[in-house]
Amino acid sequence: MAIAIERNSPPVRSGAFGPQWDLGDEEIEELIDVIRAGKLSRLGGTKVIQFEKEFAAQQGVKYAQAVTSGTAAVHTAVGVIDPNPGDEIITTSITDFGTVIGILYQNAIPVFADINPATGNLDVNDVAAKITPRTKAIVLVHLFGNPGDLTPLIELARAHNLFVVEDCAQSQLAEYKGRPVGSWGDIGCFSFGGKHMTTGDGGMVVTNRDDFSDRLKWFTDKGNPRQPVYEHNYLAPNYRMTDLQGAVGLAQLKKVGAAVAKKQWAANQLSEVITSERGLSLQTVLPEARHSYWVYAFHMDPTRFRVPANQFAAALQAEGVPANAPYLVYPIYKYPALAQKRTYGTSGFPWTYPGVGRDIDYGSLSLPGCERFLETAIVMPMNPSYSERDVEHFGIAIRKVAAHYRVK
Ligand SMILES: Cc1ncc(COP(=O)(O)O)c(C=O)c1O
Repeated sequence: MAIAIERNSPPVRSGAFGPQWDLGDEEIEELIDVIRAGKLSRLGGTKVIQFEKEFAAQQGVKYAQAVTSGTAAVHTAVGVIDPNPGDEIITTSITDFGTVIGILYQNAIPVFADINPATGNLDVNDVAAKITPRTKAIVLVHLFGNPGDLTPLIELARAHNLFVVEDCAQSQLAEYKGRPVGSWGDIGCFSFGGKHMTTGDGGMVVTNRDDFSDRLKWFTDKGNPRQPVYEHNYLAPNYRMTDLQGAVGLAQLKKVGAAVAKKQWAANQLSEVITSERGLSLQTVLPEARHSYWVYAFHMDPTRFRVPANQFAAALQAEGVPANAPYLVYPIYKYPALAQKRTYGTSGFPWTYPGVGRDIDYGSLSLPGCERFLETAIVMPMNPSYSERDVEHFGIAIRKVAAHYRVK
C-alpha cells in the first residue's frame, strides 16, 4: 500500500466519499410497480417502453431502443449497419473493449486510428488516412464525456459514404454545438453500467433514421419482428432490457441532469487547481463542446515531475482521494483478444476470412497519440454526491502531490 508522501503528514482525506449514484425511494417505487404488475420482461411490461420514450425525448431523437449493456448497444449499432464480413470499421483504441466487441461479433475488422492526446478523442486526419475501399463505418468515443470533433468527422464520413456511430457510453448529456451527443451521427450508443446513471447493467441505442428503426428493434430481439407473424428474419441476439431495469432507468433518468450538472461544477473547481499548477494541464475541450465529466482527467508532463503518472496517482490515493493512471494498461489493440486474434476457436476470424484482403497485425501497431495519452493522463471519478469539502480535498491533494514531486 502507498504511504502519504510526506512523513508525519496525515493524508489530506481520511473518510470515504459518497455514492456514485443517487438511488432511493424513486427507484423503489418504480420497481414495486413492476413486481405488482407481475410482468418483469420488456414483453408485456410498460417501464422499458416508457424509459425509451423519455430517453428519446431527453436526447431529442426519434427512436431509442433499450438493451442490456453498452457493449450490446454498440453491437446493435453495428448489427443495424449490417457490414459484410471483412468490412472495416475505424475506431479508437483508448476506450473500453465494449467498443470493439460488437464489431468483431459481426465479423467486421476494427481498424484503429490515433487520437489527439490532449482531447483523448479520434484525430480526424488519422481517421482519413485509415480509410480504405473496405471501410464501412467510423465508431467514435467521446472519451470521459468530452465530445469529439463531430463536424469534420461527419463531413469526412459523408464524403466517403461511411456510417458514423457515436459511442456515448461515457458521455450522456455532453453537448456539441448545443445539442446532446448521440444525435449527430447515424446511431448513438449509451451505457447504464458504471456510468452517469445506472440500471445495474444496461444501455440504449438511438437514431433519427427512419430506415434504421425496424432493424434497431429487431436486432435486439433475435431478428424477430413479432408481427404479423412470429419468425426470425436474420441472425441477431436477445438484448432485451428487463422491466426491472427499465423501472430503475425511468427514475434515474429524472436525476441524471442534476448528476451531470454537479459533476460539471466539481470539474470546474478542479480545473482551476490544475491550471494553476506548473506541469499539469487540462483535458482539452473544444470551444463548441460541453463535457459531461463521467470522470475528470488531467495531464502531467512527465519531464516536469520526478515520478511517472502511475506513481502520481498512487500518491493521490495515499492522500485519500481516488485517482487512477494509466487509464488502460495499454491501448486496446494490445489486448490478447486482438493482438493474438483470440476470437472464434482457432480460426483467427474475422481476420482470416478470405474476403478480408489484407493482413492486419495489431501487435506491430504503434499509435503515438494513444501512448502519449496513457503516459500523461490521470483520471479521477466524479460523483454527484461530492460536497464543496470533498472537492476541496481533491484540490489540496493534487497541489500537495504536485509540489512534492515537481522537478524544481
Ligand atoms: C466507451 C465505452 N464503450 C462501451 C462500453 C461498454 O459498456 P458496458 O460496460 O455497459 O457493456 C464502455 C464501458 O465502460 C465504455 O466506456
